[in-house]
Amino acid sequence: MNKPSVLIAGAQFGDEGKGKIVDLLVQKGDLDVVVRFNGGANAGHTIVLDDGKYPLHLIPSGILHKETINIIAAGVVVDPLFLVKEIENLATRGISCENLFLSDRAHMVMPWHRALDAQQGGRLGTTAKGIGPCYEDRAGRRGLRVGDLINEDGQIDVEHFSQRVREVCAEKNVQFEKVHNLPGLNPDEIIAEFVKAAETFKSKVRDTGAMIASLIQEGKSFLYEGAQGSLLDVDWGTYPYVTSSSVGLAGCYVGTGNCVLPEIRMGVVKAYGTRVGEGVFPAELGAYERIKEQDKVPPGGTLPPLTPEEQKLASDGDEYWMGRWLRAVGAEYGTTTGRPRRCGWLDVVAVRQAVRMSGLNQIALTKLDVLDGIPKLKVCVAYDYHGKRVTDFPARTHHLQDYKPIYEELEGWETLGKATDFEQLPEQAKTYVKKLEEWIGVSIKIVSVGSHRASSLWR
Ligand code: GDP
Ligand code: IMO
Ligand code: MG
Repeated sequence: MNKPSVLIAGAQFGDEGKGKIVDLLVQKGDLDVVVRFNGGANAGHTIVLDDGKYPLHLIPSGILHKETINIIAAGVVVDPLFLVKEIENLATRGISCENLFLSDRAHMVMPWHRALDAQQGGRLGTTAKGIGPCYEDRAGRRGLRVGDLINEDGQIDVEHFSQRVREVCAEKNVQFEKVHNLPGLNPDEIIAEFVKAAETFKSKVRDTGAMIASLIQEGKSFLYEGAQGSLLDVDWGTYPYVTSSSVGLAGCYVGTGNCVLPEIRMGVVKAYGTRVGEGVFPAELGAYERIKEQDKVPPGGTLPPLTPEEQKLASDGDEYWMGRWLRAVGAEYGTTTGRPRRCGWLDVVAVRQAVRMSGLNQIALTKLDVLDGIPKLKVCVAYDYHGKRVTDFPARTHHLQDYKPIYEELEGWETLGKATDFEQLPEQAKTYVKKLEEWIGVSIKIVSVGSHRASSLWR
């Protein structure tokens, strides 16, 4: 019998722990192919093994498995310079990218996209990786695709690529000089850099739509790896504070160019809420302005644990300190940008929307261990909007401050201890999981209790 295929989709604001779950499922299910289908280097998917962390951005999270085919599909926006660095970084750690393939239809993030994102993305708190401007040019039919750089024979098409860069760069330079008062970019430098980078990946370029179709025909098992989370979806997220791609199953169709309906559609849900960057966050704990000021840490650093006095403040209802508790214990700093992540309680209304969008039929619940020691846990189950109970995520996010979370309160636990089986967890933790299941309406199949691949309980 064929092994089932799997969709992995973030069901909150991103950073739910998708990378860990992808790696775990590939190992456990011995899956043959992992396909990244949306987003770009704005994603940061972390895998933790005995020898440390592997933060992945563009490269699919199946790459640590030597035999697995990893495909960057057409829906991903690829910064070729970044991709080469990521391949080289993995090589220094002994990870081969021999089985990595790249779509000839994927749009390339060009230096003008990064420059424009740095200029304009601050308002939204983007990752400044050029994602929005690149997707804009894709829709505006000005974009450059991998196939503009690499031809059908896997050779660098210098003539065609140079012509396209010169055309588009001339247009962009008018924008830089006239609108942004910035110096224009030098097309010759861009051409030289890209042609050099292309040497590293030209042999990996494929029509990945056709490739996926023929691997399906051969009976290979697939994991489709989504980036970001449903609340960052360009249509269904907290618009305009969203990313620029379709997240979840819709993005999977667009990105793979295949009519696939994975049998297992697994949403990854963090046991509490986090968000990086600007925009509404209904169940947030603490004001973002204060967090930006007080909770900054040097790159790679984290906050000290809370003192007993600070924990008491948090337990007595001080939202800033409760948010900081989660941030400190959960090491909630962006994998891609290092910014402090805003923290909050788990929002079931939002997760239910993700279930609807992608037809989720399983959940992986991550970071349950981070809740250790918190006496009372809250879960947002609905909103109160001027006295009306609302259970669907609102469209008018500019009014979202008027939607007050309605919380259910659950007992916390002291510590999850060294449980190796769900049944060994403290009763309160089991109740937390079962109540979430009931409110979300989907079974929780994996409970993740630590960042390491091995810290995972199956149900
Ligand atoms: P992704 O973007 O969804 O792949 O998530 P990120 O990798 O950006 O962020 C998740 C972070 O939580 C990473 O640092 C993971 O190593 C870590 N992590 C994942 N699962 C768990 C867990 O169950 N417990 C703890 N403490 N950390 C986890
Ligand atoms: P993973 O795959 C968390 C957020 C940014 C910003 C908004 C728009 O690791 O879960 P963009 O650069 O995409 O134009 O930024 O979206 N964002 C993410 N937040 N995890 C991500 O990816 C994200 N990708 C984008 O912080 O608020
Ligand atoms: Mg991430």
